Amino acid sequence: MFDFNKATENVGGWLTEAEGLSLYNIAKKIKTGNVIVEVGSWKGKSTICLGNGSRDANKVKIFAVDPHIGSSEHQKMFGKVDTFEEFKQNINKAGVAEYVEPVRDTSENAAKNFNQKIEFAFIDGAHEYSFVKLDFNLWFSKVMNGGFLAFHDSWHFIGPNLATAIPLLTSSRIKNPRLVDTITYFEKVERNSFLNRLENIGFIIYRTLFGIRGFFRLKYQGSRVI
Ligand SMILES: C[S@@+](CC[C@H](N)C(=O)[O-])C[C@H]1O[C@@H](n2cnc3c(N)ncnc32)[C@H](O)[C@@H]1O
Repeated sequence: MFDFNKATENVGGWLTEAEGLSLYNIAKKIKTGNVIVEVGSWKGKSTICLGNGSRDANKVKIFAVDPHIGSSEHQKMFGKVDTFEEFKQNINKAGVAEYVEPVRDTSENAAKNFNQKIEFAFIDGAHEYSFVKLDFNLWFSKVMNGGFLAFHDSWHFIGPNLATAIPLLTSSRIKNPRLVDTITYFEKVERNSFLNRLENIGFIIYRTLFGIRGFFRLKYQGSRVI
């Protein structure tokens, strides 16, 4: 049984326990020979959850893409940052290094010539709309049909919110969206049905309402730990 708090003890980051467990569970489902791409690793909290899921099931590779210089909000908060050494130490300590391939680069560069079979992409890089939209376009096209994508901070940050809401409302290739705390998950398909499209619209309405409630929960209880 995966113990999120124990596995990620002393690892800085912003993931909730429910989010970490959901990443662990989806990583367990990825089939042998397929891979996971993570955009935005910071100090490795989400990578450790994915790595544990991989280790406990099909031992799939996780490509952890991050230039490790932080996003604009981190640079504003902490000044110049370099998380690469701490990331590697945390991954080693968690015993998942053999499943993790660190890619110290931007999402855009990493996507060029990336030709592995991606069954799951977890997007948690820069949160400005233009970057999340770019990440969406770069990786959605590379995820296999029947595969999954997930976006962190998907309702209380305007960038991930819009970059996921617009395709969810308009795309004929998305079905089965669901929300785990701030992560929006969905499946990529060859073609969705009319019912799937109705469900996608209903999900965005639900997420907007959940977002209002969740915003106050985050604001007054706080869930941010560096
Ligand atoms: C919110 S943090 C990721 C948190 C991490 N998933 C966790 O669980 O702790 C965002 C990360 O995105 C990275 N980042 C920023 N711009 C990026 C880009 N263009 N491509 C890939 N990663 C990027 C930053 O360096 C930062 O480490």
